[in-house]
Amino acid sequence: MLPCQRHLFDIPDDVAYLNCAYMSPLMKPALEAGTAGLARKAHPWHITPDQFFTGEEEFRTIAAQLLDGSADGIAIVPSASYGIATAARNVPVKKGQSILVLAEQFPSNYYPWQRRAEENSASLKIVPWPEDDDWTAAVLDSLTTDVAVAALPHVQWTSGGRLDLVRIGEACRKLGAALVLDLTQSLGALPFSVRDVQPDFAVAASYKWLLGPYSIGLLYVAPKWQGGIPLEENWIQRANARDFASLILYTENYDVGARRFDMGERSNFALLPAAMRAMKQLLEWEVAQISETAGALNRQLANAAADIGFSAPAEPLRAPHYLALRRKEAIPKELPEMLAREKVFVSVRGSSIRVTPHVYNTAEDGERLIACLRRIAAA
Ligand SMILES: Cc1ncc(COP(=O)(O)O)c(C=O)c1O
Repeated sequence: MLPCQRHLFDIPDDVAYLNCAYMSPLMKPALEAGTAGLARKAHPWHITPDQFFTGEEEFRTIAAQLLDGSADGIAIVPSASYGIATAARNVPVKKGQSILVLAEQFPSNYYPWQRRAEENSASLKIVPWPEDDDWTAAVLDSLTTDVAVAALPHVQWTSGGRLDLVRIGEACRKLGAALVLDLTQSLGALPFSVRDVQPDFAVAASYKWLLGPYSIGLLYVAPKWQGGIPLEENWIQRANARDFASLILYTENYDVGARRFDMGERSNFALLPAAMRAMKQLLEWEVAQISETAGALNRQLANAAADIGFSAPAEPLRAPHYLALRRKEAIPKELPEMLAREKVFVSVRGSSIRVTPHVYNTAEDGERLIACLRRIAAA
């Protein structure tokens, strides 16, 4: 367990921010790194061509450590949807095959597959909501020979349900189905290894559990797809990009590894330093410890909430950092606003109250949430 790290964040004492799955607060050192990066644009004469290629290589190296992979397999993307669209452009889907997604899957990992299915006379196959909270068993049941691609998360975003991606990865390989992952609600808070899971593509937006800024993310591309077709063609993905004077000597060759999938203007001098500083901090804390720390608070909250009529899937079927509370009666849609008036911040997603703490939260933050829920339950 980590001691509370609130001192690294600018969170007033009277704010109980339990909403990392919505957007994490940027820690002070990451904000400083981003601000210093943005300020460099005030003096562009100090920005040299080689600096377009330094920060982004460091970003790949740090991101690779979080994924337990190699830097060559990382592309820099602006969003989860960009990464999923890249995967959808590359993995084969034939007429009559299906693409597997979960019930209530996040739209950025749904719409690209809906389009791909339409374009290829294939269909979407939706894993039904498991009554016993076991998403892994539900996915394994749905992985039949017609499945060309399983497009999945590590954590189902409205229930907190955790998928056993090692078992699912094995099942996909046996079938010859591609595995494409959206790790936005898990990477940085739940241990993950591309070596163990062996996905074809895996993306994570930075602004939630990677504690980074908005509009930047990472895309892992397995070696077998690193010769694929990028979503866009830009100068910086190409093999001759470092030689600014010769850019008009157009080349068919891309830079090595997953770099061909980088977004245009990937050398973002403000966002990359902030994202890297945050990821370095995650590595220092260690993801397993972050998971344990957020998980301990969620366990206390799940117990206290059970006394006032709320339930949640039990661990290990639920990811430790992600608590989705339900009750028999409907959750009022305006609940987040009611809580926000008390400076307690959570989300409502689907029919759940989503409680997602991090290492900046205190036991008192949790007690304030429970006090509010008790009042609402009694009303
Ligand atoms: C599971 C999941 N994936 C992705 C995203 C963000 O998607 P994008 O980066 O395409 O905006 C979210 C945001 O809530 C999410 O919950």
